[in-house]
Amino acid sequence: MLRKRLVAGNWKMNLTPSEAKKFVSELKGALINKDAEVLVCVPDIDITAVSEAVLGSDIKVGAQNMYFEEKGAFTGETSPLMLKDAGVCYVVIGHSERRAYFHETDEIVNKKVLKAVEQGIVPIVCVGETLDQREQGITVDLVRLQTKIALKGLTEKQVAEIVVAYEPVWAIGTGKTATSEQAEEVCAAIRNVIGEVYGKETAEKTRILYGGSVNGKNAAELFAMENIDGGLVGGASLKLEFADIVNC
Ligand code: PGA
Repeated sequence: MLRKRLVAGNWKMNLTPSEAKKFVSELKGALINKDAEVLVCVPDIDITAVSEAVLGSDIKVGAQNMYFEEKGAFTGETSPLMLKDAGVCYVVIGHSERRAYFHETDEIVNKKVLKAVEQGIVPIVCVGETLDQREQGITVDLVRLQTKIALKGLTEKQVAEIVVAYEPVWAIGTGKTATSEQAEEVCAAIRNVIGEVYGKETAEKTRILYGGSVNGKNAAELFAMENIDGGLVGGASLKLEFADIVNC
């Protein structure tokens, strides 16, 4: 296997800095898998506390969003320079909650992806369909387009180093996981479209995660699929169950 597995937690808007510190110290003791890369994407305000708490472990710290400018009059936003300086190495971009509640378009997602890469932060680019879109039979078309727009302007080498997360919106926080076949079908389609635009060799290197109600029970089956290189985990990343997901 060329691609190193990645299990990324997405804490969303949960855990205060002191709660985060306590949780990470428990998590450290529960992790035994040394083969997978382990990441926690935490609220910005928790980054410093979590960066200290992960010391002495292999857990990496990521952010859940960033702005596409480096500095200036953008009240309330966080710059990639700030994230980098605080020790962040990954950033989730275009999560469906950001698209739905904060009106992020594919074009904004693209600007953020380009800026993250330019600054040396690895973007975890989220794509995925709603239940309506799945029922209309347009899942693969839609996800192909989302992927193409999000990555526009990157070089082959850069695409090989980023991460894409397939997250069907209907599976997020609902307890309804996509079957491993459904997840594999779309992850394979993402790899195909990357191959069409950036070449097959690049596509073989890009890591593609599945996200949407991943838990300690279903992770092993999902991660065993050929085109699924790990997971983006929401709810279960706030419990020690996250260690079970990594360990499997
Ligand atoms: P979930 O969230 O695991 O709670 O479904 C996944 C995500 O939103 O990344």
